[in-house]
Amino acid sequence: MRLGILISGRGSNFEAIANQIARRKLDAEVAIVISNRADAPGLEIARQRGIPLRVIASAGLEREAYDRLVVDELRTHEVEIVCLAGFMRLLSAYFIRSFPSRILNIHPSLLPAFPGLDAQRQALEHGVKITGCTVHFVDEFLDSGPIVIQAAVPVLDNDTVESLSARILSQEHLIYSRAIQYIADGRVTIEGRRVKIREEAAE
Ligand code: GRF
Repeated sequence: MRLGILISGRGSNFEAIANQIARRKLDAEVAIVISNRADAPGLEIARQRGIPLRVIASAGLEREAYDRLVVDELRTHEVEIVCLAGFMRLLSAYFIRSFPSRILNIHPSLLPAFPGLDAQRQALEHGVKITGCTVHFVDEFLDSGPIVIQAAVPVLDNDTVESLSARILSQEHLIYSRAIQYIADGRVTIEGRRVKIREEAAE
């Protein structure tokens, strides 16, 4: 399964996916990493591992014009699944149509709670006792497509945004690879908003 990973920043989810592949725990290959920012630290991770990378800057381009460049690059690398990993842009309808049910995102809350920016801060400010992270298919709306996997984490009384974010992030690093593996194994079907994951066949 050839992955195209889109980043804008740190790239720790990309790194976790690359690690799982290197450990042969995830049956996939990172075909290309694309960043919309030349200064994204995640690019260094790709460089160090010899993973193909490309910066496609968005300045001055309309959303769809930008997305056409990204889709062309993904197609050049024969990408089968697109993984948004801290990619700070909404995708156009053109992009979504180009990879139907083949685009994943990870978000640091239990969606539909706390979509958008600063989800961990939103959770703290709301006072929830449990939050977490979500891997979902991407549609044209923000953090809204069908949910593949979620992981819950407790919110502790002494949590700060940083401590809560770190607890959530360690779960993000687990569930993103797991979701990709389910898809690679052909176990995932989407029925409306519900994503069903078939039991693994017994050996
Ligand atoms: C993660 O918290 C992810 O859930 C959100 O953006 C952050 C990206 O972190 N979409 P990283 O770049 O993968 O380290």
